[in-house]
Amino acid sequence: MCISCTRKRNKIAEKLIKSDKMLKQLTLVEDEKKDEINHIAESYTGIYAMHKYWSKKPYNIIREFILRYTNKEDIVLDPFCGSGISISESIITERKPIGIDINPSAIFITKQMVEKIPTTLLEREFKNLRKEIKDEINSFYTVKRGGKPFIGTHFIWKGDNLMEVWYKNKKRRIVEEPTEEDVRLALSFSYEKIPYYYPKNRFFHNSRINANREHHIYDLFTPRNLMGLSLLMDRIEKIEKSSFRKFFTFCFTASVGQASKMVFVIKRRGKYNKKSRKPKKEVGSWVIGYWIPKENFEINVWNCFENRYRRIIKAKKIQESTPYTVKEAETFEELGSQNVLLVNGPAQKVLKEIPDNSVDYVITDPPHGNRQPYLELSMMWNNWLKKSVDYEDEIVISESKDRNKDIHNYYQLLNKVFVEIERVLKPDHRFSLLFNSLDDETWMNLLLTMNDLNFQLEKVETLGYSAHSVVQDTRQAGLKTDFILTFRKALTKNIQNIELISVRNDRGYITSLIETYVKKSENGVYTYLILNFLVSELLQQNKFFRLSEVLNVLKMEFEREGNKWIRRKI
Ligand SMILES: C[S@@+](CC[C@H](N)C(=O)[O-])C[C@H]1O[C@@H](n2cnc3c(N)ncnc32)[C@H](O)[C@@H]1O
Repeated sequence: MCISCTRKRNKIAEKLIKSDKMLKQLTLVEDEKKDEINHIAESYTGIYAMHKYWSKKPYNIIREFILRYTNKEDIVLDPFCGSGISISESIITERKPIGIDINPSAIFITKQMVEKIPTTLLEREFKNLRKEIKDEINSFYTVKRGGKPFIGTHFIWKGDNLMEVWYKNKKRRIVEEPTEEDVRLALSFSYEKIPYYYPKNRFFHNSRINANREHHIYDLFTPRNLMGLSLLMDRIEKIEKSSFRKFFTFCFTASVGQASKMVFVIKRRGKYNKKSRKPKKEVGSWVIGYWIPKENFEINVWNCFENRYRRIIKAKKIQESTPYTVKEAETFEELGSQNVLLVNGPAQKVLKEIPDNSVDYVITDPPHGNRQPYLELSMMWNNWLKKSVDYEDEIVISESKDRNKDIHNYYQLLNKVFVEIERVLKPDHRFSLLFNSLDDETWMNLLLTMNDLNFQLEKVETLGYSAHSVVQDTRQAGLKTDFILTFRKALTKNIQNIELISVRNDRGYITSLIETYVKKSENGVYTYLILNFLVSELLQQNKFFRLSEVLNVLKMEFEREGNKWIRRKI
């Protein structure tokens, strides 16, 4: 670009910066969290915290979008519904959601989250279950001291060696080294002798999530805990009433991670055990993937289950008194009289069952490339649930060589879903897409696909996570926010194309945009905020750029102070 063009661009940039909208944004730039982020997520409590799922979306923001773009009774579609936040929020606001997910666990979790269930009867059923098997499970963890039996709550293992035993004596926690008898009891269990069902499948090999094809799902558990879990599941399966059976199965899958060897030991610096003078150890939790730490916990299965049950029943009691009802439809047509349709299957195929121009609003958070291989991560749950899984149709980039899920397959399948979304959405209606990527190609694919599909970009907003809600991208330049891009299905094909501008050629323009932005903050600005700002600003003008090129501009034109960028000192 010639110098005069650059000057012209710079002038436009100056003008833009003076505009009201920009000023309003810029006046917010001060504090690292709130500036430039349109929506802040609330943390997950109550029904939203009953069961783990990855990349759960904040209910308060999803609800806000549903209220903004729809009316009561409207049909809201989420073809990648995951743990079902868009589904619960649609039902609560009296819309009619359609949720699709290829992951059987996702649909199971969604159904259990929204289901209202009579808690008094459930509590009675829980008491029956407890009477039937609590003592039997607890007997697996008996710790004898001075001839008296106590119930072990936690056992710390280092590889194959039992290192520590925790038990309770009149509500007081005792931490001790194991006796020979403790070791003998722990080692008396073996996988082969377990008489009930337990998952025997092998993992796909994927070092990124610490999954090894030589290992089975049951290797995640000590033989003792596997025995406890399989006995518990066996009894749950015998519960007559289907809704209760599913509820307790839900409590089971919600607690199974904590009963695995994936629970690590936290050593608090500076805190010591009074008696042994050894560093105090605390219980970690299963986070992601199948990493078994060298030093890990074996937690009493009954305690894991009962603790989770208590948390879930508390949320269910509150839910019971809310006014909404759930009437599940089996087909799209039944949505006339019912209010929710949930389908387990690949969106690219399931959407074909939905008529043209029939959906009022689409809100979704699609799988983000290689971020989370959902079906591989959910293998443990799906296998306990005895669900068959369609790995072939998953939209994912997986590092697993066993799967053949590359970037090409990812785009091909994802684009098929976008085509279907365009077909089923009513003309002039909105499609909000939650998006989080730093990758140029992912952005370009998305924007070009949307352009080809008659979707006009209408609004770009950012969503920030509170410190307690979720761990997003931890890379230094990572987008610590999601974008929410809202498109409108245009009535005619005549929509403005997105222009890819070259940051290298338009360096002056981009630099001046960043400079004016950075200038407003005395202490400098984080990379992700600069990227957020540029993406939002340029997309509103139907322009886009390669994010990677901006990082070069930052390095060349700005200075770093700690993790923040400031104007170059002359
Ligand atoms: C980013 S997550 C959605 C999480 C969701 N927003 C929540 O709050 O829990 C993407 C979802 O897409 C699902 N998925 C992957 N491939 C799919 C396909 N072909 N059809 C439908 N769902 C698919 C995954 O199982 C995963 O649950």
